[in-house]
Parts: sequence; C-alpha cells; structure tokens
Amino acid sequence: DNDKALKKIYDYFETNFSRFGFKPSTINEKNCTNVYFTINEDIIKKDESYTLKIDDDGMMLIGKDYQGIFYGVQTILQLLETSKINNELKIPSLRIEDEPRFQWRGMMLDVGRHMMPLDFIKRCIDITASHKMNIFHWHLTEDQGWRIPIKNFPRLKSISAFRKETLIGHYNDKPHKFDNSKYGGYYTIEQINEIIEYAKDRHITIIPEIEMPGHTSEVFSAYPELSCNGKYIPVNPGSYWPNLDIFCAGNDSVFTFLENVLSEIIELFPSNYIHIGGDEAEKTNWKKCSKCQRRIKEEGLKNEAELQSWFIKRIEKFILSKKRDLVGWDEIIDGGLAKSATVMSWRGTKGGVEAAKMGHEVIMCPLTHCYFDYYQSDPEKAPKAFGGLITLKKVYSFEPIPKEIPSDKEHLVLGGQGNLWTEYVQNNKIAQYRVLPRMTALSEVLWSGSSR
Ligand code: ACM
Ligand code: ZN
Repeated sequence: DNDKALKKIYDYFETNFSRFGFKPSTINEKNCTNVYFTINEDIIKKDESYTLKIDDDGMMLIGKDYQGIFYGVQTILQLLETSKINNELKIPSLRIEDEPRFQWRGMMLDVGRHMMPLDFIKRCIDITASHKMNIFHWHLTEDQGWRIPIKNFPRLKSISAFRKETLIGHYNDKPHKFDNSKYGGYYTIEQINEIIEYAKDRHITIIPEIEMPGHTSEVFSAYPELSCNGKYIPVNPGSYWPNLDIFCAGNDSVFTFLENVLSEIIELFPSNYIHIGGDEAEKTNWKKCSKCQRRIKEEGLKNEAELQSWFIKRIEKFILSKKRDLVGWDEIIDGGLAKSATVMSWRGTKGGVEAAKMGHEVIMCPLTHCYFDYYQSDPEKAPKAFGGLITLKKVYSFEPIPKEIPSDKEHLVLGGQGNLWTEYVQNNKIAQYRVLPRMTALSEVLWSGSSR
C-alpha cells in the first residue's frame, strides 16, 4: 500500500483477474494464503525481468523493477487462461525465471491511411502489453491524413486531416474507383494525453512519428508554400504513388515549421526517441527546384541523396538540443547517416547491419518478416491486403540479429517491431485480424532467447 506504482500493478492484476470470474481475495480466503509482489534488484539482475514462484504457500512474484512485476503479472494471467476448468481455478505449482532478450519490443500502427478510434488504440495497447511488449510506435502523419493538432499550424487539423474520398479496391486495380465519401479526423490533445497515460500504466512507451521530408503531401493542402513548387494539392485519397510533393529542402520556413511541430510533439510525448520518418522521399522535385539546387551548392553537397542527409542532420541537431534522440527509417543512411541517429531497418536487414557496423543503434522490422499489412494466408480467401505473404511460421523464423553483425556490435540491435500499415485496414476488425496471431509469434522472438 505504501508503494503507489506497485499498488497500481496490483490493481491491474485484480481487474484482469476478475475476467476469469474470480477475485484474488476469494483465493486468499480459500486456497491460497498469500500473493506477494516485491522488487529486489539483488536477486533479479536484468531489467524488466522477474521470478515467479507458486506453491502451497501462495504466489511470490519478485521483479527487478516495476516492469518485471508487470510482466510477471502477464505470465500469471496467461496461466489463469489455461487453468480454469469446470469453474475451478487450479494453478500448478511452479517456478519461472524469466527475462527479455531485447529491450525494444514494439508494434507500429499507421493511423494516416485509416484512423482507428481511441478505444481501439487502447485495445492495441492492452494487446501489446499482454504480449510483454513495451513500445507503441504511433505513425501520426501520412500523405492520406495528418492526425495530431499543432497549435501553431491549425490548418493541419482542419485541412490536412481530411480527404475528399478514399480509393476502393487495390491500388493496382485500374481504373481507380473511389467511395465518394469525405474521410478523416485527428486525435485531440486530451485524447493523446489519455493514451500516453494509459500506455504508461501498462509499461508501454509511445514513440510518435512525424514524417519528413517525404510522405508529407497532406501538409501542402494546408501550407502549399512548404513544397518545392508551392502549389496546393488535395489530401491523397490513396491513388497517387509515390507522392512527388515533399518538403522543400531549400526553404528555411520548412525548418521553422518542422521545429515548431517537433517542439509541440516533444512537449506532449515523454519518449526519449522521436521518429522523423525519412522513408521513400522521391527526389524528382528537388532535382527541378532552384531553391533545393542552391542549397546543394551552398552546402557543398554532391547530390539529392546528400541533401536528404543534410535535411535529417539539421533536424537531428534540433532534436538533440531538446535532449531527445532521433529515430528514422533506413533511408536516412543514404547520403550519410546523422551521427546520433537510431535506424529502423525495414527494407530488409541490410540497413540495420550497415548502421550497427558504424556503431548506431538499430531496430529491426524487415518487410520480409515484420510487415503485418501483408497477407498471412492464401490471398484468394483473405480480405484484400497490400500484397506479399508473411505466414505465422515465417514470423517465428525471424532473427533480429543477422550473422553479418559482428559480435561486438550485436548489443546495438535494440530489438524489433511489427508494422501495420493501413491502406487496406479499413477498421478495427481487419486490424486485429492482421496483427494476430503474427504479433504473438513476434513477441516470442523478441522476448525469448533464440535457443528457445
Ligand atoms: C515504409 O514501409 N515505408 C517504412
Ligand atoms: Zn525545393
């Protein structure tokens, strides 16, 4: 009772216990004499780890830290799932010593293409926590919609958050058809704070992502002056790929804009890591833009790849000045990697290997194993997906540390994550169908040692 954080986990335990039709106190009175939760750093050495003992005297859960206790509770709840027989709960005597293999065990959700309601975001966080995963990467901005209010730029929520209509069917099916129905919205600051708190209580860190310099065309529906050609374009209904309109790297107002946005993001989200996207920025317009070309000359850069690198490094400087760390998709390596950047390797594991060799932190989420927007079974019989095929078995075969990484650099692989892009995820049901059970396989890969 005098440890508020521990009491909070106990309350979580009690609440979740009740879904089995029992209360812990009932057990206390009848079968089980004690339920102890205790933190002991001398006995348990590794972060987030725990030991659980169950015998005739009761349950004893010892954690290295609060996270350890929380994950021990998840194990108890999993035991209960299989212990209710004929209205009786019989938990076997046991001793479990458990620790995570990786510190970054994540899930990413894209709310740009389709925006999931707040209750479902909470559900995602619950499911993530029950899998002993600790990162929720919230992909908040996309060509198809901007989902977070920014005080200094109110047109992002009133204009960039809405599209006139949405593509029906697959992008590859031509001619394109549309639903003729306005779509969009954004999470309010109150809602975002609610999610951050909700996640915190479940030992999950929310990593916000604000895309740049590409996947940003929705911004130019509200602030066209920030693109190379300065032209208004409507928010993408899902029918343009790739979007050629990206932030102009030669225009200093772009950096004023982004620093404003990132300041508000950093004020709102407590995470150490701030994700700045960096993927799939088409350089077509940069090649034609006099401002971008002038920047290349003035900064002594070789080409547009180096201009992107210069762009990211300028943003890195700003993020570091706010005492946070930058994460970006693996394209941020092209043209020279910012000194402190953490790399999220998605185009396979090659980028991650390269970054680790250079001494950078890496998160592995290759599209060969971690893209949960891909089909998981026979496409003929499944709801329309982006493409590909990643079966449950394939996810189980995922090894986040490829052998190309020298052993003295292995520690730089912080872990991995599953990514759910939502072009073809129109609602909660489909989201849940795509994520499970592949996320269960991923959680085992990230938690259990490779020998198991
Ligand atoms: C990505 O899938 N474009 C990161
Ligand atoms: Zn430009």
